[in-house]
Amino acid sequence: MGMRNAATIVTFLLFSFFLGGLTHDAKPERFDKWSRRLARAGVTQEQVTQLHFYFHDIVSGEHPTAVRVAQAANSDRSPTGFGMVVMADDPLTEGPDPNSRLVGRAQGLYGSAGQEELGLIMAMNYRFTDGKYNGSSFSLNGLNRALDPVREMAIVGGTGVFRLARGVAMAKTYSLNATTGDAIVEYNVTLVH
Ligand SMILES: *[C@@H]1O[C@H](CO)[C@@H](O)[C@H](O)[C@H]1NC(C)=O
Ligand SMILES: *[C@@H]1O[C@H](CO)[C@@H](O)[C@H](O)[C@H]1NC(C)=O
Ligand SMILES: *[C@@H]1O[C@H](CO)[C@@H](O)[C@H](O)[C@H]1NC(C)=O
Repeated sequence: MGMRNAATIVTFLLFSFFLGGLTHDAKPERFDKWSRRLARAGVTQEQVTQLHFYFHDIVSGEHPTAVRVAQAANSDRSPTGFGMVVMADDPLTEGPDPNSRLVGRAQGLYGSAGQEELGLIMAMNYRFTDGKYNGSSFSLNGLNRALDPVREMAIVGGTGVFRLARGVAMAKTYSLNATTGDAIVEYNVTLVH
């Protein structure tokens, strides 16, 4: 799998501290002066982490967490708002209640990328502030067909505990206020890191 190879091709400087753990039969493979592939057996003790949280996208009221920052001349005439771009700083909570425990924030951009069907292209960083994941984050990059019951989106990297992560997020709308557009979305995330 391409992603796996990419994840194991790391720079010597960043990962030199791993080398102490290599055994004699797991020598690093050299490609060039500036890169080497570390034998998987010697280095990667991959973990799988599952996360469950709720995402609050508030577009209305005096304190929106998601604001439209750009649009095309004809976005408002498009049934899908094609071309509009939103900047979000959305709270992530343990339960669906907005007042339940705050576990992190999803910050980044989403924009309408579908002309015929609603499809939001999401480029967002999900950063956690609670427990052992405090300070760790993952990057989600995928198309959110927001009217589908469940959407699957790719996780393409991470930091902290989730360094070098890859994975998928399953997102399901928990509630949508049809008048305001405010939404609460349930997430199940599986990360390999
Ligand atoms: C998360 O880490 C920050 C910075 O280290 C710290 O100030 C904060 O209290 C931590 N939060 C929790 C819930 O542990
Ligand atoms: C998340 O997982 C729980 C437990 O398996 C399930 O009940 C829920 O429907 C899932 N939600 C999503 C968005 O996948
Ligand atoms: C939608 O939001 C409006 C304005 O805040 C509120 O009056 C209404 O009760 C909400 N509808 C639902 C179904 O929550």
